[in-house]
Amino acid sequence: MNMTKNYIRRRDQLLLLDLDKEIQVGRKEDLPLAVEKLEKTNYESPWVEEVFKGLTSIVYKIKIDGEYYALKKKRKKTIARNMDAHLSFINEIQRRSDFEKLKNTVPQLYDRIAKTIFASLKHGFILSPWIEGECITFQNRRDIYENVFDTLYLMECNGFFEWDLCSNNLLLVDDNQMMLFDFGCTYSYDPLSEYNSAGKKEPIFHGVERFETRMLMTYFLINKKRMTEDMILNEYRLEKEIAAKYYLKKLRWLEKNSAQPHIVDWIKDIIKTWEWGISNNDNLKEMYIVESFRSYVIDVINDINGKYCNYMTSKKLYYILKRLNNDYELIKRRNGFFWGDELISKDRLIEKYDKKENVLQKYRLRK
Ligand SMILES: Nc1ncnc2c1ncn2[C@@H]1O[C@H](COP(=O)(O)OP(=O)(O)O)[C@@H](O)[C@H]1O
Ligand SMILES: [Mg+2]
Repeated sequence: MNMTKNYIRRRDQLLLLDLDKEIQVGRKEDLPLAVEKLEKTNYESPWVEEVFKGLTSIVYKIKIDGEYYALKKKRKKTIARNMDAHLSFINEIQRRSDFEKLKNTVPQLYDRIAKTIFASLKHGFILSPWIEGECITFQNRRDIYENVFDTLYLMECNGFFEWDLCSNNLLLVDDNQMMLFDFGCTYSYDPLSEYNSAGKKEPIFHGVERFETRMLMTYFLINKKRMTEDMILNEYRLEKEIAAKYYLKKLRWLEKNSAQPHIVDWIKDIIKTWEWGISNNDNLKEMYIVESFRSYVIDVINDINGKYCNYMTSKKLYYILKRLNNDYELIKRRNGFFWGDELISKDRLIEKYDKKENVLQKYRLRK
């Protein structure tokens, strides 16, 4: 049997759960309230100020002795119904354990990765300081892109790949310092030989792609009424310029550390495409059409696989169909089809994605 990296990780995590193993981060002595009280916290607990319902957990904003904390508790049943959603809590505790150690050797990550005061698999909660921050917006802010990509660079060079870089999982502190706090989908990998934590199989997924798919392209869609096409393209160009710098830095790091040739070539190709894209406005527009199409397809498939869809999934599907109708030839010419779509005719593709609307409606849940 060909065991994929994901298969092995899931098997190991399920085994730990089956054996009822404890994974603990931090010390009980540092808790502001007794473990039992935190464990039993619910909507009615007097220290709860606010409740955030995530897809896999419930986060309580709690106040104890004048200090605010985030108490993340595992949902009994996750809303997204796939194996990785089911395993996201144990995964997050494993990452939090890794990151508490990593911050000692990479102090630049100290302000970018939420601190874990205490976490326990058996007790089913993770306690962090509450982060006073703002949601990210993109308005010609070079510093924000630089900060995000620098954080990804540090995480990746240290062997961690973040899949879910969406706006709900990131806060801006002091205007431009990003803070990550949800590590349910952060997995380890070898950046010198693997594209991402799926191993050597899916070169389509990389740090900038994740940022664009989960965050930026979604932001553009949400703000379509407010942003003109020129505004979107200018923002996209700025993001690409900074992304290219980040990948050039990564390329130097990969070469210095004798990364395998397929990884070096992969990053070089990506940089080459982006440099072509930002060299003039026509190229930029073509690249935007191809990359936004890619991001919508990846996200729609991801939502369907997670059996969780919302109105944004429908919106993305609408734009997939629009692009297929209007820009099929361009996307084909620029090798923008993938996962078998490159083998299918325009009419069959339209038919294929049209049918997804029914599947998507089935999985559309009310929050
Ligand atoms: N440490 C924190 N500080 C401030 N807000 C937080 C913190 N942790 C979580 N949140 C809030 O709770 C929400 C859900 O938390 P998250 O860790 O993303 O859970 P899930 O894994 O279910 O998505 C976040 O989108 C954010 O609004
Ligand atoms: Mg989250």
